[in-house]
Amino acid sequence: MASENSGHFHEGQSNPSTEAVGTISFKWVFEFVRPHVLALSGVAALSIVATGIGLAQPYLTKFLIDDGLIARDSQMLATYCGLLFAAAIMSTALGGANRWYYLKVSARVLFAIREAVYEHMQRLSPRWYARKSRGDLMARIDGDVAEVQRFAIDPLLALSNSAIALAGSLALMISLSGELSLLAFVLLPLQVIYLRKLRPTVERRTRIVRERTGDITGFFLDRLQTMKLIQSSGAEDRELDKLGQLNQTYLKDLLSLQITNFFASAGPGLMTALMTTIVFLTGGMMVIYEAMSLGTLIAFSAYLARATGPVNTLLGLYVGLQRARVSLDRVRELMDAIPEVSSPATPISLPREANGTVELKTITFAFTASGAKGFDGATLNIQGGHKIGITGPSGVGKTTLIDLLLRHYDPDHGSLHLDGVNLTDLDLLELRSRVVVVAQDTVIVAGTIAENIAYACREATDEQIVQAAKSAQIDNDIQAFTDGYQTMLQTGGETLSGGQKQRLAIARALLQNPLVLILDEATASVDEDTAAEITRSVDALFGDRTRIVISHHPVALAGADQIVELVDGGFVRARIGQQGPQ
Ligand SMILES: Nc1ncnc2c1ncn2[C@@H]1O[C@H](COP(=O)(O)OP(=O)(O)O)[C@@H](O)[C@H]1O
Ligand SMILES: [Mg+2]
Repeated sequence: MASENSGHFHEGQSNPSTEAVGTISFKWVFEFVRPHVLALSGVAALSIVATGIGLAQPYLTKFLIDDGLIARDSQMLATYCGLLFAAAIMSTALGGANRWYYLKVSARVLFAIREAVYEHMQRLSPRWYARKSRGDLMARIDGDVAEVQRFAIDPLLALSNSAIALAGSLALMISLSGELSLLAFVLLPLQVIYLRKLRPTVERRTRIVRERTGDITGFFLDRLQTMKLIQSSGAEDRELDKLGQLNQTYLKDLLSLQITNFFASAGPGLMTALMTTIVFLTGGMMVIYEAMSLGTLIAFSAYLARATGPVNTLLGLYVGLQRARVSLDRVRELMDAIPEVSSPATPISLPREANGTVELKTITFAFTASGAKGFDGATLNIQGGHKIGITGPSGVGKTTLIDLLLRHYDPDHGSLHLDGVNLTDLDLLELRSRVVVVAQDTVIVAGTIAENIAYACREATDEQIVQAAKSAQIDNDIQAFTDGYQTMLQTGGETLSGGQKQRLAIARALLQNPLVLILDEATASVDEDTAAEITRSVDALFGDRTRIVISHHPVALAGADQIVELVDGGFVRARIGQQGPQ
C-alpha cells in the first residue's frame, strides 16, 4: 500500500526510464553509511564495553549480598561497594563518549542523504513542482529523511549492543538458575508474535500522520507568503478556521497512532511485569526453602530486567523498520521523479562566431497529454542581433516558449537551435548563461542587493555590479537606501517596488552578458516613462545581442526588427499597427 502514491511522482509517461521505479531501497541508504563503517564500529565497540560493565553489576550485587551482607564480612562489603561504584563511573563515561561519536556519525549520514535528495530535486522541472505541495515536500526532505537516517544507523548499534546484552544476560541467568530461565524462553517469543500482528496498522497510521504534518507545514509556508492578500481580503477568520480544521484532523490521526503505539508497547510491558511477578513468586519460594541464595534471586531478577530491555529494543527496531519503510517510500518517490532535461554527456560548444541566432523547427509541446497544445508545429527564425517582439493573448504559451528556450522542458516533437546547435547538445550551464530572461516577476533571494544583482554571476566585482546597476538605472535608488548596496533583502523582496525589482533584474542580466536576452513582460509593472527609459537603455546596452521582447506595449516593442503573434499553437506576423511609434 505504501507504493500506491508513487504513480503521481513520475512525469512523462512516455519516458523510457520509468521502469527505474523502486530502485531506491535500503541498499541505497546503506551507501551513505558505508564511508562511516569504521567510526560506527568504534561506537559499537564502545557500547559493547559499556554493556559488559553493565552486565557485571548484578553479579557484583550477588557477591555483595551473599559474601558481604549475609556472611557479615565488612571487608568484602567495602570491596564490592567500591567495585560497583567504579563500574558505575566507567559506564557513565563510556556512555557519554559513545553518544558523542554517535551524534557525529549520524549527523554526517543525515546531511549526506539530505544533500543527495536536494541535489536531485534541483534537477526537477517547474512542471513537477507545480503539481507538488510545498508542505509535503518539506515534510519529506526534513522528517522522512531523518527517519531514514535513524534507521540506517540505529539498528547497527542497537543490534550489536542489544544482542550482546541479551546473550550475556541470558547466559548469566542460566548460570544462576536454569529453572527460572525457562520462564523467559517461553514468554519472550510471545511478544514477537504480538508485535507482528500490529505491523500493518503501525505502518498505515504512521504514514497518515506524516502526511498531516506536511499539510500543516504547507499551510504555514503558503499563508506566510500570502499574508498581504489574506489581510486585504479580510480572510483572517477563514484561514484561522482552516488551521483549526487541519489541527483537528492531525490530532485525530495522532491519537489513533498513539493508541496503536500504546498497544505496541503496553503488550510487551505487561508481559515483562508478568514475568517478574512469576520469577519473584517461584524464586522467592526457592529462597524461603533454601534452594537458592538471596543474592542469586536478586541478581537473577536484575538480569531478567536487563534482558527485557534489549528484547524490547530489538522488537522496537522491528516497529521502527516499518516506520522507516514508510519514510523511505516517501523519499524514494522524490528520488524516482525523473528530471525532464539533463546535460548531454558530450556537449557541443557554441561556435566562436555565435551571434544569438535562434531557430524553432516545427516544435510541438503540451503540458499534459490530454491538454491543449501550446505549440503545434510552430516554426520561427530569429536572426542574431535582431530585436523581435512577440505578442499574443494571455495564456497562449509565450512564457512556455521561454521555458523551452531555457530547457526547463524539451518539446515533444521538433527542436530548438542556438547558432545552429540543437539546445539538447549544449551544456545546460552554457545554455543558461548565454540565454537570459528578465521575467514578469523578479525573484529576489535573501541577501544583500549586491548579492541579488550578482546572483547568476558570482565572480562580478563591486565595480561591475555598480556599473550594471547604473546602466539599469537603479543605482540612484540603491544609493538612497541607508545601507546602499549592502541593504538586506528577504525572499519575496517586499522592500523593493515592482519597477525597482524589474530594473534589478535587468542589472542582473547585464552582468551575465548574454547572447540572447529575453524580456517577458518585463516592463509591464512600470509606468510608461520608465518603460520607455528601460527599453531605450536595454536597446543601447544589448544593441548587438538578440532581444526577444514579449509585450503588448508599443513602447517596449519600439524599434523591433520583426513582431510576431503567437496564436493557435504557431506564430503569425503581427498585424500592422501593433508596432509602436517610430
Ligand atoms: N506547469 C504547468 N503545468 C500545466 N500547465 C501549465 C503550466 N504552466 C503553464 N501552463 C499552461 O500553459 C498555458 C500557457 O501558459 P503561459 O506560457 O504562461 O502563457 P502566457 O502566454 O500568458 O505567458 C496556459 O494555459 C497555462 O495554464
Ligand atoms: Mg507569460
